[in-house]
Formats: sequence, C-alpha cells, structure tokens
Amino acid sequence: MPIEIRQPAEEELRDAMHAAEQGFGAGITDEDWERERITLPAQRAVAAFDDGRAVALAGAYEFELTIPGGQVPCAGVTWVGVLPTHRRQGILRRLMAKQLVDVREWGEPIAALWASEAAIYGRFGYGLAVPSATLKADSGRYELRDDPGRQGTWRLVDAATAFDLVRPVHDHVRRARPGMPTRTEHWWRNHRLADSENWRRGASEKFYAVLELDGAVAGYAIYRVKSEWEGGFAKGVVRVLEAVGTSPAAEREVWRYLFGIDLTTTVDVYPFDPASPLFLTVRDPRALHMGLHDGLWLRLVDVDAALRARSYRSGQPVVVGVRDEFCPWNEGAYRLGAEPGRTDAAPELELDVADLAAVYLGAFDFAHLARADRVRELTPGALERASDLVHTPLPPFCPEVF
Ligand SMILES: CC(C)(COP(=O)(O)OP(=O)(O)OC[C@H]1O[C@@H](n2cnc3c(N)ncnc32)[C@H](O)[C@@H]1OP(=O)(O)O)[C@@H](O)C(=O)NCCC(=O)NCCS
Repeated sequence: MPIEIRQPAEEELRDAMHAAEQGFGAGITDEDWERERITLPAQRAVAAFDDGRAVALAGAYEFELTIPGGQVPCAGVTWVGVLPTHRRQGILRRLMAKQLVDVREWGEPIAALWASEAAIYGRFGYGLAVPSATLKADSGRYELRDDPGRQGTWRLVDAATAFDLVRPVHDHVRRARPGMPTRTEHWWRNHRLADSENWRRGASEKFYAVLELDGAVAGYAIYRVKSEWEGGFAKGVVRVLEAVGTSPAAEREVWRYLFGIDLTTTVDVYPFDPASPLFLTVRDPRALHMGLHDGLWLRLVDVDAALRARSYRSGQPVVVGVRDEFCPWNEGAYRLGAEPGRTDAAPELELDVADLAAVYLGAFDFAHLARADRVRELTPGALERASDLVHTPLPPFCPEVF
C-alpha cells in the first residue's frame, strides 16, 4: 500500500499529532490536544497515512514575522515527526514538498522553523537566518562594569495580570527587531504564559516578574527556579524563558534581578539573544558561558514577494540569480534595493535560495556568504554593494521556540 500524503481530516488530526510526538519518543496528552487543536487546525497540517493510519505529520502555525522594515505572513513550521517504523523512506521529503506548495497557495512568502537537528532542513531550501545563544552563567561572578545603582521596582504577578502587563512591552520591542513572530491572545495564554506540569522538568512553576521604571512597566522576566543543594549549600538554577526590557536601563535591571535570586548559583537562558547588551555590560563576560547555535531557519517560499516586502538601505540596486531545486517556481533573477523583485536583468551575484534566506533578516550579509564560499560574484564590487543594501541596525532575534 503506497503512503498517502494529504491534509488530515479534523477527526484524524489528533492521531497524526500523536504519531509526530511518537517520532520524538513521546505522545500527545489531553492538555496538548486542547491547546494545539486551536493553534494548529487541520487545514494547516499535512500528514502521511499508511493504509489509512496516520504515520507522520508536518504543521504550519499562522504567524506574522518581523522583517527589516515591517512584518510579513509566515508559516511557522512545527509538529514535524515520522513514526520510527516509517523513518528514512522519504516521507519527510514528501511532506516538505506538499507543505511548501500549500504555504505558497496561502500567500505566505516565507516559512520558518526551529530544527530538532540542524542538518535536516538545508536540503529543502531553509537557511540559517537567526543565530541563537545559550547562557549557563555563573551568578557569583555577575558584576556590572559601570554600575549606576539599582533602579526601578519589581513585583511578581499571576499569569492573567502578566498577560495585561507584559504584552505591550513585548510588542514594543518586537516592532524594532526582525525575527520575532506575532503572538495571538491564544498563544500568550496557552503557550507563553501557560504552565503545564509536563514542561517543568523538575523545576518550579513559572514566575512572572514585572519591572517598573519611573512608574511605567519597562521590562519583565518569565522564569522557573530549579532548586538544588550540595553539601549543605544551595546550588539552584534560574531557568530564564524570556527576559525583556524596553531600554538599556530596563535590560540592565532585568538581568540584575535574575542574577540576584537567592539560593541560586546559575542563570540558564535559552534562547538568549546573541546581540544582548549583557555581554558588554558585565565585568566578566566569560563567566556568562555563552554558546552560539543555530536558531530560526528560514525558507523564502515566494522569493519575489519576500524580497519586495523587506526594506533596503539606499544604494545602487544589485541583481542576484537564485537557484531553487526544491521550489523551481523561484528560479530566476531578482533585484535588491530600490524597486526590488523579479527582473530580466543579468545577475551580478549567484546563490542558492537557502543562502539568500540567511541574509534576509540581517543576521549575515553577502560578504559573510562569500567567505563561506556560498555566493558567486559575477560583477566585481557587487558583493560589497549587496551587503550594504541588506544591512540592518540590529541583527534578528527570535525569542519563541515553536
Ligand atoms: C527527522 C525526521 C522527520 C526525518 O523523517 P524521514 O521521513 O525519515 O526523512 P526522509 O526519509 O524524507 O529524509 C529526507 C532527507 O533528509 C535526511 N534526513 C532525515 N533525517 C535526518 C536527520 N535527523 N539528520 C540529517 N539528515 C536527515 C535524509 O537522509 C534524506 O536525505 P536525502 O534527501 O539527501 O536523501 C524523522 O526522522 C523524525 O521524526 N525524527 C524525530 C523527530 C524530529 O526530529 N522531527 C523534526 C522536528 S524539527
């Protein structure tokens, strides 16, 4: 019986999600189902069926993602899993092919995902667009270089109050930062602020701490505490899920708070913003134990629409030739800069669609690609001009692992 690839019916979705979770060595609970049936309706999913039984799934949340100069509809690829009985038979490849056709039809120019393993998605045209960091910082060595003194006041609130207080702070920061997905009210309440027992991994419930500076909410932290003792001494870990401030002072105070929690010796942050000012504000940056990883992978599903949606710095436009074996509708030449989009002009640079995705949000530029031998310069000087055009004031950051 051949494997059938298609959208699951509503009544098939739960089984398909269960199959995907079994791919991860787990299963779906009633609580997961109640949350996900709203975030991921059947029409945003594609599943594989063997003799009518779901054996794999790939889903796509409906987001808008911030890009340089605005935001654009984005398929948040998620719930990708194949049963261990059916792995390495080409099912993922077929799911990816169908999903990208669907995303294009929905009019979403880009798709994005966090990969369980970084080697999987390049072959489907995904490029590493947002690096992400981890911190396992030694709290005992935390000290600011130039400390103006503690500012502001803190209070711990419940999830419902956090929803009212922290959402505007997040939205404020989001406007200026490429790489951040939108959060609906459902997402805030059932994902970010929700606190399932299954997510705790031996740590406390979630704490929602809100910072006020000059009478206004200016930052917040969402975290758990994992309590540990050794030889009579506390060695607890603060697990930071999100730390946000709207100004340099607010960011400084958010980290000061997290590093100052009693009975803890480590601040563990994931995902941490590699461009966070923390690295430059502490006296001992090595003690942050920062590690750099891949974060958000991006797929330009409709290259023309994606390139027209973002902004560029002023300068002479550059024509890039794009190869795209997996989505051949994208093959061709595109202009970057003024009046961006598809063109008949001759390419001055040539690269793969995954590498164009790596520069799209501003994490890398064409000079970075050239040093990695991932772009060909056909017209001398085009690399430098193109790098200038895509430069952004801030590199992207994605605080949401989905
Ligand atoms: C990863 C997973 C989805 C792959 O599914 P699959 O149906 O076995 O993949 P396919 O047979 O379609 O393989 C497609 C290609 O990806 C490659 N590939 C698959 N899994 C890979 C992995 N984990 N690492 C590197 N490459 C991988 C295959 O070698 C194949 O390469 P090719 O096109 O060059 O021949 C599946 O193994 C799985 O469910 N894993 C556990 C859950 C998980 O990690 N999900 C991904 C969440 S982001």
